[in-house]
Amino acid sequence: MIENGLLDQVVILTGAAGGIGSAIARTFHRLGARIVLADYDEQSVTKLASSLDPTAERVVPVAYDASNPSDADAAVARCVASFGHIDHVIPAAAIFEEQPFATMTDAQWRRTMAINLDGVFYICRRSIPHIRPGGTIVTIASSAAHEGCSPEHVHYGASKGGVLAFVKSLARELSPNIRVNNVSPGTIDTPMVTELLKQRGDQFLSVTPAGRFGTGEEVGDAVAFLCSDAASYIVGQTIHVNGGSYMGG
Ligand SMILES: NC(=O)c1ccc[n+]([C@@H]2O[C@H](COP(=O)([O-])OP(=O)(O)OC[C@H]3O[C@@H](n4cnc5c(N)ncnc54)[C@H](O)[C@@H]3O)[C@@H](O)[C@H]2O)c1
Repeated sequence: MIENGLLDQVVILTGAAGGIGSAIARTFHRLGARIVLADYDEQSVTKLASSLDPTAERVVPVAYDASNPSDADAAVARCVASFGHIDHVIPAAAIFEEQPFATMTDAQWRRTMAINLDGVFYICRRSIPHIRPGGTIVTIASSAAHEGCSPEHVHYGASKGGVLAFVKSLARELSPNIRVNNVSPGTIDTPMVTELLKQRGDQFLSVTPAGRFGTGEEVGDAVAFLCSDAASYIVGQTIHVNGGSYMGG
């Protein structure tokens, strides 16, 4: 069902140059979607787009700062200009900065909130008028939203908790025209957690029944499922992709 279900569908994906974002991009491209790849890292996202689609007909890179509402305007405008409408919005851009709470500054708190939570609002809000009925929003929160984050990431945990509440509330408001759901990854082996895994990788593995860290592709498969009609009766929910490290609801 998923194999054909995303053919020609139009996707805005943020954080597209990241470990998980680029895997989502590859999955959706393989499934025949047309995609706007938005990321702060313009060079990487441009390289990714041309590697997926040298003709630039189905994949369009956009330089984008999630914390800047004007960049959300521009990304949406670019998508509509290129493809005419939007079917799926996948805001995956986020930062994960280490800072003990006792010395966390207001600016550090605000920067994480601005990218991880405000950014989700900006891109979703601006996409809504262009999403066709039957479309979806799939956010990428984190296990941190459900069980709290590792020490020295309180701002990250709070921002992801906000994303989760955003999804549940928005799902009620937009259903049945637009389905809103979330994927919460556990530890996925990407640049975001390289340093953390050096310090605490063994500790995380010891509480992960799967016995390994996840891949971006495994997150991408869950996102593709939620965007497809195979998930037509799934609204306001979270799929956990975490190897069993967290088994809550
Ligand atoms: N890797 C994990 O273990 C893990 C776990 C739980 C949740 N997540 C979530 O998955 C998503 C993707 O994470 P990842 O592991 O691929 O991280 P990553 O660091 O590999 O990628 C993040 C991407 O976001 C981009 N980005 C950063 N700031 C930005 C900004 N201001 N505007 C636009 N783009 C910006 C970066 O350039 C990068 O391409 C994030 O929302 C993250 O919070 C990741």
